[in-house]
Amino acid sequence: MKRFKIAVIPGDGIGTEVINEGIKVLKKIEELESSISFEFKTFPWGCEYYLKTGKMMDDNGMEILKNFDAIYLGAVGFPGVPDHISLWDLLLKIRKGFDQYINIRPVKLLKGAPCPLKDVKREDIDMLFIRENSEGEYAGAGDWLFKDKPNEVVLQTGVFSRKGTERVIRYAYEIARKEGKTLTSISKANALNYSMVFWDEVFKEVGKEYPDVKTYSYLVDAAAMFMVKDPKRFEVVVTSNLFGDILTDLGAAIAGGMGLAAGANLNPEKKFPSMFEPIHGSAPDIAGKEISNPLASIWSVSQMMDFFGYEDWGKKILDAIEELLIDGKTLTPDLGGIAKTSEIGKAINKILEKK
Ligand code: NAI
Ligand code: MG
Repeated sequence: MKRFKIAVIPGDGIGTEVINEGIKVLKKIEELESSISFEFKTFPWGCEYYLKTGKMMDDNGMEILKNFDAIYLGAVGFPGVPDHISLWDLLLKIRKGFDQYINIRPVKLLKGAPCPLKDVKREDIDMLFIRENSEGEYAGAGDWLFKDKPNEVVLQTGVFSRKGTERVIRYAYEIARKEGKTLTSISKANALNYSMVFWDEVFKEVGKEYPDVKTYSYLVDAAAMFMVKDPKRFEVVVTSNLFGDILTDLGAAIAGGMGLAAGANLNPEKKFPSMFEPIHGSAPDIAGKEISNPLASIWSVSQMMDFFGYEDWGKKILDAIEELLIDGKTLTPDLGGIAKTSEIGKAINKILEKK
């Protein structure tokens, strides 16, 4: 019997709604698969907690989380708490503190999911984004000089270490090799004349060890255009923290919307827990109405099962999401349905019971 300890951080807004549905699915897996069990512990951290205590998480939060196999997160951020505080003191603290240097975000158009692009075949949108997740433009390096003076200057420095750049690129090559897919690097060396020239060099260098992997390199602006005009060009994609953040929202838009976009923050060595979350935010505009789409957070449960080594369950969950979309009867309003958030987990579990 394999027992996994999961730290649950529902967070703010729709985070709490969508995470409940993912937990329902995990509990169903536990019921159907005698060799797995889960132990959940929920933490009330987030913006509401901040407004009460002045902290996004407890001082010893990282110490506590360290003992878990995985962290399952909803979303953080809420009006009243500055976004840079909620992001840096919880989400980025965990990603960086636990060296979750790989962010995996599938951009895959499932059957039955809406797509705003014309003349694009469903199978043409099937990408796997591997985003650098520990440094780069989100390293938090910089300075704020002469605040509120006429000569005020701010500096935001991108940090690209050899270790950090090499390991994410190598990880992407490994995935491309394993899956027999092409690998595309997205950068911007014409304008970012240090960081991205370096990135491109490392991409070429590491590539020498993978002569069997066919590669492409795009500038980020061109890549954004091609993701819309000709998405089939992209299979496995590796890119920096900022570019990956932006392009995967574009990816979400062409692959069913924010309600279907999942992400895994991995520490591949398993020295620290990895974190699984939908890529959307706390959506204050629809929070509390019970209409948020939990499929992204259920998809991230599928990623969690893959990471635990239960790829069969990862696939079953993804297939169940696709069946639900094709059936079309139990969907939330963002996908044209009238179902409530809390009906989705139940519907997915019904499908899983038959698998
Ligand atoms: P958002 O992703 O929360 O919402 C963007 C739009 O997509 C909204 O119209 C929302 O209603 C819709 N949407 C998002 N997820 C949905 C779902 N599951 N079902 C149906 N509709 C969905 O991004 P926004 O509005 O820019 O940010 C809101 C807050 O969330 C901010 O405080 C921001 O900092 C935070 N945020 C947190 C993230 C995280 O915790 N990982 C990621 C992105 C934003
Ligand atoms: Mg984002």
